[in-house]
Amino acid sequence: MTDTPRSQCLSMASPSKLVLITGANKGIGFEIARQIAAHHKGYHIVMGSRDVERGAKAAEALQREGLSVEALTIDVTDDRSITAAAEIVKAKFGRLDVLINNAAIAIDGDRICAGRKMFEETFATNNFGAAATTEAFIPLLEKSAAARVVFMSSDLASMGLRAGSEGRANTVEEQSYRCSKAALNMLALGYAQRFRAQGWKVNIHSPGYTATDMTDHRGTGTVEDGARGAVRLATLGEDGETGTFSGKQGTIAW
Ligand SMILES: NC(=O)c1ccc[n+]([C@@H]2O[C@H](COP(=O)([O-])OP(=O)(O)OC[C@H]3O[C@@H](n4cnc5c(N)ncnc54)[C@H](OP(=O)(O)O)[C@@H]3O)[C@@H](O)[C@H]2O)c1
Repeated sequence: MTDTPRSQCLSMASPSKLVLITGANKGIGFEIARQIAAHHKGYHIVMGSRDVERGAKAAEALQREGLSVEALTIDVTDDRSITAAAEIVKAKFGRLDVLINNAAIAIDGDRICAGRKMFEETFATNNFGAAATTEAFIPLLEKSAAARVVFMSSDLASMGLRAGSEGRANTVEEQSYRCSKAALNMLALGYAQRFRAQGWKVNIHSPGYTATDMTDHRGTGTVEDGARGAVRLATLGEDGETGTFSGKQGTIAW
């Protein structure tokens, strides 16, 4: 839970594109912030973090690289935090061009946690959190001339891959993660359909098995590679796709 969301700023009065990434204080979200700010001129990144200090540190690290970023406190499991964050963005910028729903958890199997609790906690962040955040920022995305929304999902969400697999049975923590991300895909598709006529590009990306805290750094991919696809989807032109599910190798089966 956060107390008083605040924004630590590299002040940028009117960026040509304003991006909000949830869970950007580390891992793939942090790298997405770095790549967009470094390679896309005119983009300003609001780096969401549920912890004020972790957010400030992350933003300062990229500011030291000369990148246009700032920190914003947002805990996606806390409606007051989400609302306060949206109010800050509204007051400061009046719109949002790109939302990247990246914040997520994968509960550690070592944690003693009953099945229901495991599912509740995982869905609260990975699914309900992304839904509540998107809903809160829709009025600001509607002010954008070219809104883009990216949902960070996983190959593990693919029912097509799962149905065709003869792999081992899942533990309850794996099941809760898979199900939360499969439901996230449905959520994202709903937004893609809802805003298709307005020209929004709403897409789902899987970064692949990546070396971050989430995987105890056992992932075989780098954060640089994991971020790349999300960066492309966040910066799509008018002729870009919408309503897709893709990873490093291209389209992923639903
Ligand atoms: N790594 C992989 O192999 C892999 C594979 C497929 C998909 N993904 C997806 O890629 C995305 C990024 O994962 P990652 O590997 O970079 O994970 P990570 O290193 O664990 O980072 C997750 C981020 O989400 C934040 N977060 C967690 N709960 C939050 C909440 N309630 N409110 C706001 N922020 C919250 C974390 O903040 P704290 O620092 O405060 O904990 C952190 O900044 C996730 O959506 C994940 O599911 C990852």
